[in-house]
Formats: sequence, C-alpha cells, structure tokens
Amino acid sequence: MTTQSATTSSPLPGTSRKAYGASSADAQLAPLTIPRRAPLAQDVVIDILFCGVCHSDLHQARNEWHNTVYPCVPGHEIVGRVTQVGSAVTRFEVGDFAAVGCLVDSCRSCPSCRKGLEQFCEQHPTFTYNSEDRHLGAVTYGGYSEQIVVDEAFTLKVPAGLDLAATAPLLCAGITTYSPLRHWNVGPGQKVGIVGLGGLGHMGVKFAKALGAHVVVFTTSPGKIQDALRLGAHEVVVSTNQEEMKNHATSFNFILDTVSAQHDLGAFLQLLKVDGTLTIVGAPEHPLPLPIFNLLIPRRNIAGSLIGGIQETQEMLDFCAAHNIVCDIELIPMSGINQAYERLLKNDVKYRFVIDMASLQAEVG
Ligand SMILES: NC(=O)c1ccc[n+]([C@@H]2O[C@H](COP(=O)([O-])OP(=O)(O)OC[C@H]3O[C@@H](n4cnc5c(N)ncnc54)[C@H](OP(=O)(O)O)[C@@H]3O)[C@@H](O)[C@H]2O)c1
Ligand SMILES: [Zn+2]
Ligand SMILES: [Zn+2]
Repeated sequence: MTTQSATTSSPLPGTSRKAYGASSADAQLAPLTIPRRAPLAQDVVIDILFCGVCHSDLHQARNEWHNTVYPCVPGHEIVGRVTQVGSAVTRFEVGDFAAVGCLVDSCRSCPSCRKGLEQFCEQHPTFTYNSEDRHLGAVTYGGYSEQIVVDEAFTLKVPAGLDLAATAPLLCAGITTYSPLRHWNVGPGQKVGIVGLGGLGHMGVKFAKALGAHVVVFTTSPGKIQDALRLGAHEVVVSTNQEEMKNHATSFNFILDTVSAQHDLGAFLQLLKVDGTLTIVGAPEHPLPLPIFNLLIPRRNIAGSLIGGIQETQEMLDFCAAHNIVCDIELIPMSGINQAYERLLKNDVKYRFVIDMASLQAEVG
C-alpha cells in the first residue's frame, strides 16, 4: 500500500509519525504519515497503546457531517504511555499511563471554559481530529496513530487497576453518556431508557445502573436482549414491536437516545412522563422530524448533549475505577478498521472496537 504524506504549515520542528486515515469520503482508511509537534513546555508526549473506534470516526471519515478536511485521521478514545514531558509539566511523568479524549485544547478563558465546559468553548474547542490545530495551524490528527502530543491540561490520568484497552472507549463513549445522566440527575426511583445498544448505549446502561436508576434498554436487535440484561438493564424492549412500546407509554423520567441513524423520535417522546426529558447524543447525518404534539402533551422536554468537559471526564474515569466499570470491547488490529466500520453500520459490535496500536508498527513497518 502506498503511504501518503499530510502536509501542514508547521512553523515548529516536529516529527513525522505513522497513522491511518481517509484521503477522501469514499476511500478506505490506509497508512499515511502525519506531523506531530515537538513538545512545548506544557506538553505530554504519549505513545498510543489503544484507540477506541467511535461511530463519530466513521461519520467524519465519510464526511457525513459535511465538514471533513482530508486526509482525516480519526480516533478520540486514546490510552497510552507517556514517553516525554515538557519542562513545565507537573502532573505526568515518563512511564505513566495517560488518556486523551475528544478535546485537546480550548481558549481556557471564555465563560464556558471557565465553567469546565471546554467542549462549548466560545473560541472553538480544538477537537482531537478534524479541528484547526492551535499550534501547527493545519488540522488536528487523531488517535489512529503511533503518538500524540497534548497539553497536560487536556490529558487525563488513567486510574490504577483499570484494563487499559477497555478503558480507551470511556474517553468518548463513557463521558458522552455519563455527562447527561449526571446533568439530568438520574438516580434511584427513576425509570430511565437507553436507546440503541452500541458503544455509547452499553456505557449508558452501565452508568444508569450504577447511579441507581431502573434501566430499560430499547434496541432494534433482538439478538442483544441477553447482553442488555447482563450489562445491567432491568428490562429490554425491542423498539420495532409496537405492543411492547405501548406497555411503557408515559412512564419514563429520562431517555438517552444514542442512535446513529434515522429513527422516529415520536416513538420515544411518547414514553416520557410529564416533564420527562429525551436527551439526544446520537448524531445522524440528516435532521430528524420532531412530532410537536408529542412534546406539547404532556409538557415534555427534548435536549442534546456533547461529550463532557475535562474535569468531568476525569471524574467519570475515577467513577469507573470506584465502581469497577469499563467497556465491553473487541480488540482489532489497525488493518481491521475498514471491516470494523462495515460492522458498525450493521449494528454488529459488542460493544466497542478498540484498535491495538502495536499492530500499526507491524503493518506499516
Ligand atoms: N453527542 C456526542 O457527544 C457524541 C459522542 C460520541 C458519539 N456520538 C454519536 O452517537 C451515535 C452513536 O455512536 P456509537 O459509537 O455508540 O455508535 P454504534 O456503536 O454504532 O451504536 C449505535 C446504535 O444505534 C442503534 N441503531 C443504529 N441504526 C439504527 C436505526 N436505523 N434505527 C434505530 N436504531 C439504530 C443500534 O443499536 P441496536 O442494535 O441496539 O438497535 C446501534 O448499535 C453516533 O451518531 C455518534 O456520532 C455523539
Ligand atoms: Zn466519539
Ligand atoms: Zn473557551
């Protein structure tokens, strides 16, 4: 396979690193090289050990959100080992395990940043990939690569004792479900729905259970019923079965929708009690119709949520360590990424693919 080069306008001397990425919306992911900056005083250099495969990676690689800059190197569920630290770094040492999620920088001074909501930075958060790079000036490249250089303020501590590969997807699937469950105060005495049992959904089930709620999974895949129960659901509903859906009408306090494709929001709104909330975290390519009368009667809420801030991501990792929670994963080699994307589209993942990045060295040479 040919290796292509991604050029940038870097003013800083950096290094060229092996990666895997897409060169266009309809290209298979393939080896390429990317620049990484030389570490600045506050930077941590991380050799990537594991990187989770989020459905957002697929949306982005295939330009389904219509903003992808190519070549695109996805990956924002990163766990690795620190190999170098800048002179001003205080929280990490060479040899530590470290993690990086969806954010690598922000302005740090706007009202959102000051509140720990860096994902809503008013000067544009720097996402881990496909975002303007505040240092190199071009686009950021993600975790499907051998190394990443990140400011320590955006680098997370991996709590001792967690399996490293199964921890990686916590950095997106974990925080994206933990944050709304906490924000909407999910807890004991509440009936909570999780729609879609994929990477996000299976973490939603684990967190909602750990927070003490009565958890109901909605799936389109009857083959996932036993898994849903094993993961902690109290009940499972096959959402294509109208009778089963009717049995739960007007009974939920909160529903978290993680679906990655077109689906009927009205079917889930109808299940909420008065003042209940449907929070959407799934990010399908096309807009979804909103049946307004299902909102008006009886005074229901619809909301959205995007990942979580850095402090909350660390809190989520510590919560996982305290509650012995990690992701259910299938480890794949880097060369398996294109097949993994095809399986994601068939809802055939149990429940997160994680790339063993050691395979990148072997494959790319
Ligand atoms: N808001 C955020 O911050 C954020 C962060 C990360 C990801 N996301 C987005 O969240 C979505 C899910 O990501 P993921 O990584 O969890 O994806 P995933 O592992 O592919 O899971 C998505 C699940 O949705 C269900 N589903 C898929 N197509 C469906 C359809 N047509 N109708 C009904 N259900 C369907 C399937 O569950 P069943 O088989 O159980 O039906 C599938 O397993 C993606 O759009 C992703 O981009 C958002
Ligand atoms: Zn993600
Ligand atoms: Zn900001």
